[in-house]
Amino acid sequence: MSEIKVTGQKRLVIVSGRAHPQLAIDIAAHLETDVVHTDARTFANGEIYARYDESVRGADVFVIQSHTYPINEWLMEQLIMVDALKRASVKRITVVAPFYPYARQDKKGRGREPISARLVADLYKAAGADRIMSVDLHAAQIQGFFDGPVDHLFAMPVLLEHFQQLDNSTLTVVSPDMGRVRVADIWSDKLDAPLAIIHKRRDPLVPNQVSVHEIVGQVNGRVCLIVDDLIDTGRTIVKAAQALKDAGATKVIVAATHAVFSDPATELLQSDFIDSVVVTDTLPIPEEKRFPSLVVLPIAPLIARAIYEVFDDGSVTSMFDGAA
Ligand code: R5P
Repeated sequence: MSEIKVTGQKRLVIVSGRAHPQLAIDIAAHLETDVVHTDARTFANGEIYARYDESVRGADVFVIQSHTYPINEWLMEQLIMVDALKRASVKRITVVAPFYPYARQDKKGRGREPISARLVADLYKAAGADRIMSVDLHAAQIQGFFDGPVDHLFAMPVLLEHFQQLDNSTLTVVSPDMGRVRVADIWSDKLDAPLAIIHKRRDPLVPNQVSVHEIVGQVNGRVCLIVDDLIDTGRTIVKAAQALKDAGATKVIVAATHAVFSDPATELLQSDFIDSVVVTDTLPIPEEKRFPSLVVLPIAPLIARAIYEVFDDGSVTSMFDGAA
């Protein structure tokens, strides 16, 4: 009997949900490919349908979705896209969720609470995802919620490159809470600037509310750079910025990876306490949410490189050597 031989050519396929198509287009452009078109629709009753316009059999597929508002709809769309890929005989499915949905619900703070970040990982698994790629997870331990490889990317090199070009002689890096100290410490090393920490307290019964308690570190007469993973309503950041200005900071600059920008973020971020805001485009930022002191840095080159490393069985870790 003659042997059957196949020439095993790997095929990389990028598909995208409807939340932030430009990000997928930018990523694909960096990979010198196109986004394979998905016929995605929402029926009158809210149900979502997705079908790929071309064969994806045997492909290494990366399903990009940006979990902006309405987040549940975009999550469901991505799950349906994964399901369609599983049934279309792809070789491997990687969920690319630059802003991991429900990441802030990563533990039980009080009795009878859900761990929704774990539920999301289970949903991805059940739909057929083989691996997950995300940027600046709210808590690194979310990696352990998914039973499979998780590529945890860091936006720090992208943001750092921006700040390394500026005059940082009077800069102090500020961690907006105790949870961010480790990351802020790396920033302070990289920018050769001292570190300050804000001690804040939340009311567990009121979402998106925070009160600043005290600042540890030298901020008087300094340009303060607050580094956070995300800005949602902007309340945390504006409270921190106000405390810093009250303590004598000459300027307050904010760097954050994920611009969630739920109302009233755009208004709050333009307050006198904040001089500029630097974010990446892991989430779409519509024109009406942009403002003059906002700088948006592209995340596509970083994600594209990570996708290539995964596809090519290379090293994602090598991208961040020493960065985090
Ligand atoms: C908190 O732990 C997060 O890192 C953010 O600081 C927070 O979730 C941002 O929310 P908001 O902008 O609504 O204050």
